[in-house]
Amino acid sequence: KWTDQERSTVRAVWEQINIDEVGPEALARVLIVYPWTERYFGSLGELFTASAVLNNAKVAAHGRVVLRALDEAVKNMDNIEDTYAALSQLHYEKLHVDPDNFRLLADCITITVACKLRSAMGPQVQATWQKFLSAVVDALQSQYH
Ligand code: HEM
Repeated sequence: KWTDQERSTVRAVWEQINIDEVGPEALARVLIVYPWTERYFGSLGELFTASAVLNNAKVAAHGRVVLRALDEAVKNMDNIEDTYAALSQLHYEKLHVDPDNFRLLADCITITVACKLRSAMGPQVQATWQKFLSAVVDALQSQYH
């Protein structure tokens, strides 16, 4: 389902991503733009302002966890659904995360990456990257029923 071109594009984008930067920034962005997502992170404390979100160590740490999990998808592009079956189950049964939120986070990841890569992320690269994240979102939703 992936062309060689798509595989190499996804790998090339991934290689340029600094997990320690993009993870925290993307998670902070989703919490700021869609404040209702804060409800899942009750343990994070008081996230009422953008600066509180941006300076929160737990947000940063969890952002890195999410981005590290994306590495699994890059390495298993032909089997993203199985790769994330347990993670999907966890978000559904235990964390009770509304499945619509996966796409919101995926979009914030794309925006954050685009801000870093700038002209290196042309329309073709962006389309391929979003197709990849779309497969990730589908996989994370796969155990919801
Ligand atoms: C936990 C990945 C999206 C809420 C986790 C964990 C991973 C992960 C790897 C740790 C699992 C473990 O401890 O075994 C991802 C990926 C996502 C995603 C790859 C999408 C690209 C979301 C979204 C939300 C969310 C959209 C909510 C809006 C949570 C929460 C935890 C969690 C609340 C538990 C945090 C904790 O208490 O430590 N996620 N996640 N996740 N995720 Fe996600």
